[in-house]
Amino acid sequence: MASTSPAQLAARYDRIHDQLVELFAENEDPIARMATVSALLHHKMPHFFWTGFYQLIAGKLYVGPYQGPLACAVLDGPDGVCWACVKGRESIIVPDVHAYEGHVTCDERSESEIVVPVREPAGNVVAVLDVDSDQPDAFTEVDRAGLEKIVALVLET
Ligand code: SME
Repeated sequence: MASTSPAQLAARYDRIHDQLVELFAENEDPIARMATVSALLHHKMPHFFWTGFYQLIAGKLYVGPYQGPLACAVLDGPDGVCWACVKGRESIIVPDVHAYEGHVTCDERSESEIVVPVREPAGNVVAVLDVDSDQPDAFTEVDRAGLEKIVALVLET
């Protein structure tokens, strides 16, 4: 990522967002949209090692569409970054997963992480987008802003 400036990264997020707006005009299904988001982000962002969704179903977080190595299928809580995001209802950037108390390790290669809530129109968090990097401190406010704008498209009608 050293060769990508914050402005270049923001522009890349904008392009992905605009592409998703076009793609979603013909596809309202949330699972299909989550699959499209994870595929596009994962293959366009070199600092993404695992890219995917967990859905809140009957009090547990179940893995949804994702790209990357095999991940934990169910997060029971209460520990972990994904659950902290559900409970806090805000995005979380973890620069060093080893320093995060209660971090749930699905793959030893993950070094840093960002989790963004997926909210219904009423505001309830129904899923999260989780992105792991195999590089420490890989995520910035540019990633947060870009991912929040993209995730808002998933349940938009
Ligand atoms: N690290 C997450 C678990 C999911 S994996 O990173 C794919 C957590 O602490 O909730």
